[in-house]
Amino acid sequence: MVWRVLKCCVTLLPFYLATISPDFGDQPANGEELYNEHCRSCHQKNGKGFFRVYPPLTDSGWVADDQKIIGNLLNGLKGPIVVNGKDYEGEMPSFRYLTDEEIALIVNYIREDIAETGAVLKASEVARLRPLLQSDSVEISTK
Ligand code: HEC
Repeated sequence: MVWRVLKCCVTLLPFYLATISPDFGDQPANGEELYNEHCRSCHQKNGKGFFRVYPPLTDSGWVADDQKIIGNLLNGLKGPIVVNGKDYEGEMPSFRYLTDEEIALIVNYIREDIAETGAVLKASEVARLRPLLQSDSVEISTK
């Protein structure tokens, strides 16, 4: 009897732990985590950018435009460009190693939480545009 109760507890332990600890096991990455990992060092926490070096993601014509932002992430970007009336002449590396799903999560996080602009981007749309937009001739650097 004691053994049966014990066995039952052991069997149910992972389920119990999963309910009390949200970090139990592997969680799928979310857009905010991916942004912090890949974009924040340059574009900063709130997407405001950094002086004349890294342009802002708020008030930018790139974020709401599927082709512009996906193309930028796949190929990187080398100025000069104008963002919100200011000139930038920098280099952004390519993020083509990210999956379609990861790119969609990052773009949706920026659109919803940082720039408050643009529609929800589906991973299937990134998959459709990737072969059309990805171009080796304009690639700046890959990981
Ligand atoms: C190493 C620094 C760096 C990182 C990391 C970086 N960027 Fe950039 N990003 C830049 C620079 C510099 C430019 C401007 C390039 C130019 O002058 O042509 C830029 C431009 C942009 C633009 C177009 C202009 C604008 O401000 O809207 C977008 C959109 C963008 N980045 C999104 C991202 C996203 C999303 C990530 C993360 C996946 C990211 N960047 C990671 C440096 C970076």
